[in-house]
Amino acid sequence: MSEFIKSSRDGGVAVITIDNPPVNALSPGVPEGLRDAIQAEAARSDVQAIVVTGAGKTFIAGADIKEFAKIRAGERPRLSLNPVANAIEDCPKPVVMAVHGTVLGGGLEIAMAGHYRVAAPATKLGQPEVKLGLIPGIGGTQRLPRLVGVAKAAEMCAFGEPIAAAEAQTLGLVDRIAGADLLADAVDFARSVRGVPRPRTRDRVEKLGAASLDALRQQVRRRLRGQEAPLAAIEAVEAAARLPFDEGIEFERILFEQCLHGSQSKALIHVFFGERAVGKVPGLPAGTPGEVREAAVIGFGTMGQGIAMAFANAGIPVSVRDNSDQALARGMEEIRGRYQGAVAKGKLDTAELERRVARITPLGSIAEADLVIEAVDEDRARKRVVFSAIDQEAKPGAILATNTSSLSIDDLASATNRPREVIGLHFFSPAQVMRLLEIVRGRRTAGETVAAALQLAKRLGKTGVVVGDAPGFAGNRIYHAYRREACLLAEEGTPPEAIDAALTEFGMAMGPLAVGDLAGLDVGWKIRRAHADLRLDGGRYPQIEDLMCERGWFGQKTGSGWYVYTEGQTPIPNPAVLELLGAMDGLRRVASAGEIVSRTMAALVNEAAKVLDEGIAARPVDVDIIFVTGYGFPAWRGGPLHYADEWGLTAILDQVRQRHAGSDAVWTPAPLLERLVKQGQTFSEFRAEL
Ligand code: COA
Repeated sequence: MSEFIKSSRDGGVAVITIDNPPVNALSPGVPEGLRDAIQAEAARSDVQAIVVTGAGKTFIAGADIKEFAKIRAGERPRLSLNPVANAIEDCPKPVVMAVHGTVLGGGLEIAMAGHYRVAAPATKLGQPEVKLGLIPGIGGTQRLPRLVGVAKAAEMCAFGEPIAAAEAQTLGLVDRIAGADLLADAVDFARSVRGVPRPRTRDRVEKLGAASLDALRQQVRRRLRGQEAPLAAIEAVEAAARLPFDEGIEFERILFEQCLHGSQSKALIHVFFGERAVGKVPGLPAGTPGEVREAAVIGFGTMGQGIAMAFANAGIPVSVRDNSDQALARGMEEIRGRYQGAVAKGKLDTAELERRVARITPLGSIAEADLVIEAVDEDRARKRVVFSAIDQEAKPGAILATNTSSLSIDDLASATNRPREVIGLHFFSPAQVMRLLEIVRGRRTAGETVAAALQLAKRLGKTGVVVGDAPGFAGNRIYHAYRREACLLAEEGTPPEAIDAALTEFGMAMGPLAVGDLAGLDVGWKIRRAHADLRLDGGRYPQIEDLMCERGWFGQKTGSGWYVYTEGQTPIPNPAVLELLGAMDGLRRVASAGEIVSRTMAALVNEAAKVLDEGIAARPVDVDIIFVTGYGFPAWRGGPLHYADEWGLTAILDQVRQRHAGSDAVWTPAPLLERLVKQGQTFSEFRAEL
């Protein structure tokens, strides 16, 4: 018997338990062990039906993702698990899958190879392989349409979003929803189907009527722009209606292999493990970090409201303060309005809306808060006053956080008597939506404070990445290097919309100039004026956005920036900006899309290498996750440094050197990039000396 599989008997029903913590993934030995156990139980004369269940918090949550890299590298032969699924389906006695937790990918495929499925009420079921750049590979694209119909299966495989047990039952994917005791109900169910001819999913054809998937394809091309796996998944599901089962399985296998060996799955799997790696920061104290049970937010503008919502959404009560009652009243109204928007879209019910709003208390006490975060105007003197005041009022041990995007944490900490408990929590706007949380560690911030912030990020459903206290921290500093090139390209004669188009075509969620309009061009203008001392001697700096700001063109909020914004209309390039650009001195040439991408990306990578060298970000994966979760970098390219490794560091360094030779100090090659190229290494091989 496999070490992962345990069997027992309950009357005439065998109960087989899969036990491969933490998520019962199909690691080598698990599927084979399960098949063998099913066959052994079926051979017993005292067993009339079999129940399969998962130990711990979930049924099988999918293939073992670590295995994919080994298969790709040829370290492990690719053993198809289809024979295992078929053997389960061929079991002569009924197999009831008792599922709970997250029944994902290979987990759902194995569940569908059983003859019946009984689910705990809170179960989620789905085929999320596309999120890893893959398609189902154990018959999911062939069995799912047989159970739920071609159109629904195609949608589930293309978007990868799981469905709830109740919907799964309506669709025919689940036969029964269990009560409080899943196993007991599954065993009862198994008894009730003893001796009844067992249905094999592969034999079912009644739901395989042809469906037009054109609209779905269009939706996928729009919403998952640039991604290959979702289209492959639709193709494979479509084949289920056209081909006999075994041929459909072969068709799926070919498409699966193509995806597995493509660059997108490699990138997306890097992101999957990267998102988990960023939370594991070497050198933090062991033990459970202090929990944030109550929070307070000082400053109730757009950012403060978003932060308060993030806490309320996570079930954490939060007091909010502002220096005017009107601001508090307006803020509460705006929050309610945003929640009502979610209710209108069916994402929230009104009872939950009320619960969330009730967690936010205007003018509440901050004395009980475990964490107080300030989100007042980005003004050093003001923030220091606020910090010193909260230091007086907050209880001993409470964490004082700042949402600054440009000020020094050490400097703000020096306004308090508790620098060990001071930390930066750099939320991205809108704070209730954006996943990235830069956790900025000052020189005196205690490890316990960092650990508590990482845990808080997880509770808020955010990806916390720890960075150092330096101007722009990690994300904005690197992003500005990339945006600088976009502005310079415009000044040199490339139309702004061509710059944005080239980079969205590359996969960025938005073009860099449109991002400026969205964020407000005045924000960067203010920071540039406050930090003029950070400019390098001999560096070139674009003028255009200063000229625009001097004219009051701050972007979307003023109706004009790089683009002109008119209610209800698609933004158009701003003719007045084109005029300004046309009047600027210097070279006039239109860069190709390829040049736009390679120049902006080389700048981004070079700056990221400097940030790593200076210890502001600890590992290349930190930069990748910052960009994927906070700056709209395409996850299917794995983040900028994964992408750089694929592109080739020598080619990047050549470009950096050429541009530097054109006498622009900003392009000084990053010493780390030079070292990696000299040693023939990639970013993925870089290990910081901690
Ligand atoms: N294969 C290998 N390892 C897996 C895994 C899988 N399918 N799913 C999760 N893990 C690992 C994680 O890497 C993490 O390891 P770590 O503790 O060493 O960092 C651990 O299991 C716990 O996962 P985590 O995501 O932190 O837990 P969670 O409770 O928040 O979420 C899941 C659980 C199952 C919902 C989530 O891990 C998930 O979505 N997994 C991928 C499922 C999937 O895509 N399956 C199809 C694969 S083709």
